[in-house]
Amino acid sequence: MLLNAQSPVPCVRLPPLLMSKLHSIVYTSASVSPMNSGDLDALLVDARNFNRQNEITGVLLHSGSNFMQCFEGPEEAVQRVYQRILGSRKHTDVVEFMNLPVQQRTFSDWAMGSAMTTPSELLALSTATWNQLSSELAFSPFTPPGLAILQVFWSMRQSSP
Ligand SMILES: Cc1cc2nc3c(=O)[nH]c(=O)nc-3n(C[C@H](O)[C@H](O)[C@H](O)COP(=O)(O)O)c2cc1C
Repeated sequence: MLLNAQSPVPCVRLPPLLMSKLHSIVYTSASVSPMNSGDLDALLVDARNFNRQNEITGVLLHSGSNFMQCFEGPEEAVQRVYQRILGSRKHTDVVEFMNLPVQQRTFSDWAMGSAMTTPSELLALSTATWNQLSSELAFSPFTPPGLAILQVFWSMRQSSP
């Protein structure tokens, strides 16, 4: 069955991780050639299979040829997936916005949710603040404003008809 890339597809909730430290990465990139919905579906099927096996959750936003992806999970698995993503010939110009340990998952129900956005929505997300001073990191758990905005954006997408 082909998945519809325009509407997010929920996955089975993953069991809580008791041992592993969680890590999260956010980046943007651009496809090297125009992707139709079939291309995107194929990418998502491949990504979700690998992500489920590696306890990775997240969301992939796309607007025209531009992507923004957030993925999270056990640190080693996140690095494994990141190598696959960086090695993909389907996209270029990867710009990393966030690469941090996190205390909890933001998208725990999604092996890789997907949504189409407008260019201005993607611009707003990519111009949000995603980083922090290292002194803040040492003293307090921190959710970058960009991640909080992405979470609100995603939850609004889930509640809209
Ligand atoms: C925008 C984008 C997002 C991707 N997300 C994931 C992902 O979440 N998990 C994963 O395992 N691979 C992900 N990949 C890697 C693809 O599944 C990749 O296409 C696959 O490793 C095959 O490599 P190829 O694109 O060079 O043929 C992503 C690739 C792109 C272009």
